[in-house]
Amino acid sequence: MAPAMSNPLLSDRVARSKKVPSSHVRAVGDRPDLANVDHESGAGIPLIDLKQLEGPGRRRVVEAIGSACENDGFFMVTNHGIPEAVVEGMLSVAREFFHLPESERLKCYSDDPKKAVRLSTSFNVRTEKVSNWRDFLRLHCYPLESFVDQWPSNPPAFRQVVGTYSTEARALALRLLEAISESLGLERGHMVKAMGRHAQHMAVNYYPPCPQPELTYGLPGHKDPNAITLLLQDGVSGLQVQRDGRWVAVNPVPNALVINIGDQLQALSNDRYKSVNHRVIVNSASERISVPTFYCPSPDTVVAPADALVDDAHPRAYRPFTYQEYYEEFWKMGLQSASCLDRFRRIE
Ligand code: OGA
Ligand code: NI
Repeated sequence: MAPAMSNPLLSDRVARSKKVPSSHVRAVGDRPDLANVDHESGAGIPLIDLKQLEGPGRRRVVEAIGSACENDGFFMVTNHGIPEAVVEGMLSVAREFFHLPESERLKCYSDDPKKAVRLSTSFNVRTEKVSNWRDFLRLHCYPLESFVDQWPSNPPAFRQVVGTYSTEARALALRLLEAISESLGLERGHMVKAMGRHAQHMAVNYYPPCPQPELTYGLPGHKDPNAITLLLQDGVSGLQVQRDGRWVAVNPVPNALVINIGDQLQALSNDRYKSVNHRVIVNSASERISVPTFYCPSPDTVVAPADALVDDAHPRAYRPFTYQEYYEEFWKMGLQSASCLDRFRRIE
């Protein structure tokens, strides 16, 4: 249901504004410090060609993925197998959705993070003090037939186009999880098995142009709570990754997707692979659309480090927990630099 408050979404409130409203202005010590960001390509995250993943070159690709997961927590992939037309379709239906009249979009509005389909703004308007420069549509995607009928039916092609993209994204997530398992010396199916019945969520993020990008965030620094994220972005920069205390820009590469390790893979790998802090910066020139696919365990799954990765030198880092327990904690905590995962660490 649409809320009583008028213009809850950012895109409708700020369309004509020349100033960031006080609701979105960060305290002085909490601003992006845009002059202090690395933009050189050398500082960037690894780019991995997946062409040989199912061929004789598999071992080399698996090793490249493993070292990216261990050292960077982030990498980009080309030749990922999702057809270009499917990717382009996803981005254009996303743009069309956010350009629909306000009254049409508001049919999906909710501020309840528990809803399987909802349009909202910022991150969690129920808990946060300063808002973020973002509107977003969140969809549960797997199993597709359980959710697709609740998705928006406008634009008319939305369900079909997004359904196709999310099915392709799932297939890629499974291939990456197999490669990641192998790179850890585990059985190929280990991570896929460790995630129970599986779940898949999607965010369609819409970052409107911002008159004063130095005062606010699209998303402040955070780590993803899920297992692995597959990020599709339009041609506009905004994502930044933290490395050795510095922020590094991850500029879009044509036909590449950005992959990152989430908290669950950090836990399942007993801290071998890192869930890394990242954030989104907005800009005054153009809107930006990004579509992260969050692949995760089903809520009832008990997450625990793989036995084969536990030994005297690497004691079990986390107590077992259900993904539901973790996810509720994550939404309650909000986006902040403190890691949600630390709350599940085993105390010696
Ligand atoms: C996220 C995220 C990055 C982006 O939604 O968790 O990190 O570029 N998004 O929108
Ligand atoms: Ni994220």
